[in-house]
Amino acid sequence: MKFLFINGVNLNMTGKRQKDIYGAQTLDEINAEIAAHFNGDECEFYQSNIEGEICTKLQTAACDGIILNAGAYTHYSYAIRDAIASIGIPVIEVHMSNVHAREEFRHTSVISAVCKGVVEGFGKNSYILAAESFKL
Ligand code: DQA
Repeated sequence: MKFLFINGVNLNMTGKRQKDIYGAQTLDEINAEIAAHFNGDECEFYQSNIEGEICTKLQTAACDGIILNAGAYTHYSYAIRDAIASIGIPVIEVHMSNVHAREEFRHTSVISAVCKGVVEGFGKNSYILAAESFKL
């Protein structure tokens, strides 16, 4: 299968910011582990802090499944929601932390309703669990 892992705003700071929440590994290190886990599959990794760039990446994706951690955009980006709704490829919403155990504003996702499912709270394994679900 071909997977596209998209990380949104501030996820490039993983390993440097709030290590108690997001862990000490960098995004590159996490992506390397994901690629090793799915060694028989094709994995593309993309990160952007820019909302419109994430929309363009969604619009131009060519793969079997998209694993999307939109970061804080999850909670308010109608543009990313519309981009997800406009494509035929299934998207799974992912969060490393359990957003429902955190601040109130993180309890709202404007993208969940247009995603195939949501995986949250399993750290870097949230990405792997989400992608594995495409193989079931
Ligand atoms: C996050 C949770 C979001 O609320 C936050 O803004 C992030 C990361 C997560 O992976 O737990 O940047 O998506």
